[in-house]
Amino acid sequence: MKAIILVGGEGTRLRPLTLHCLKSMVPMLGHAFLEYQFAFLRQHGIRDIILSTCHKPELLRAAFGTGRRYGIKLHYALESQPLGTAGAIRNAGKFINRRETVVVLNGDILTDINLTRMAAVHRGQRSVLTIGLTWVEDPSAYGLVQTNQAGRVHSFLEKPSPGEGQTHWINSGVYIFDSAIFDQIPEGENYSSERQLFPELLSAGQRVWSFPSRDYWMDIGTPAKYLQAHQDILEGRMFMLPIGSVAKKNSKLYMGKRCRFHSTAELSSPGILGDDCFVAEEARIGEFAVLGSKVKVGPHAVIRHSVIWDGVDIGEGAKLSGCVIGSACRIGRFVTVRPGSVLGQGTIIPDYSVV
Ligand code: GDD
Ligand code: MG
Repeated sequence: MKAIILVGGEGTRLRPLTLHCLKSMVPMLGHAFLEYQFAFLRQHGIRDIILSTCHKPELLRAAFGTGRRYGIKLHYALESQPLGTAGAIRNAGKFINRRETVVVLNGDILTDINLTRMAAVHRGQRSVLTIGLTWVEDPSAYGLVQTNQAGRVHSFLEKPSPGEGQTHWINSGVYIFDSAIFDQIPEGENYSSERQLFPELLSAGQRVWSFPSRDYWMDIGTPAKYLQAHQDILEGRMFMLPIGSVAKKNSKLYMGKRCRFHSTAELSSPGILGDDCFVAEEARIGEFAVLGSKVKVGPHAVIRHSVIWDGVDIGEGAKLSGCVIGSACRIGRFVTVRPGSVLGQGTIIPDYSVV
């Protein structure tokens, strides 16, 4: 089987982090996000992967190239203007023989869903499309999928208005398609899977099946969910790629190469420091602190529940909690960065500020 990953969106909900970085490439515990999807697909024996790109494709090519480094073969399908989620699949379909079954993934989901079992359901039900479902408390930001007892999908409702929709089972953005369906998508037009193609398949009475799963699932497309995904990985709620060595026996504190820290600095688990970090005296790197590489932490600074990208300089006595700090930011002395703050690449925060 081959896979298509949709990575053409602009990632607006993750701005300012996505002004210089693609949503599918945001760092996550020392890896670009897509590496988790590559590892997930590889676990299920899929090595031929088509990246369906639109926005800044050159960044993807520069980072992932042929895919050889990840044990996969990458192809790039380009769009000169956004084709929407279905138009993008049709465009990527030029790399696929029409008799094949294809996995399609939204490019911003982190999941452990059992793709191998899902493919078996797809075959067993002779379905033209099988949609992986996940259960969420608040389904309003997603596509709601209603099925009959046997799992056949009878309705699809994207981003319901308040009061609309009756289920907590949502579209997880993991699909198995019979590629023959691709020819039902208009070519070269902006066309949506969720608002056009899926409802059309259902009203035409085609066999669309569901695969409900309670395995780990997260759409990392907002800062809060992006932070949460780090915490979940560190707590072992889903598979994890290698991220450095464990600093203390029996702990979940991971450390890259050449890190230096003062003997009075306090590092708590779970957490991770990338390569070449420096932590000064009496600084406290608290639980769920995720530091990229070349991060400098000044004396008495405190960092908790935060994700800090590469090359950030954190001044003396600064306090950071619940925030995401983009690469190469300079956080002044005695600055407080409060929960929910997201700083874009290169931001400079003057001493004593509260953000
Ligand atoms: N190539 C290409 N071209 N990719 C696109 C385009 C496009 O025009 N538009 C969006 N994408 C990609 C995005 O990069 C992302 O990986 C994926 O399609 C889904 O887009 P999002 O913008 O993240 O959608 P969403 O999160 O609001 O909703 C979707 O995902 C939910 C699960 O996370 C829908 O599929 C919902 O039904 C679903 O529940
Ligand atoms: Mg999304």
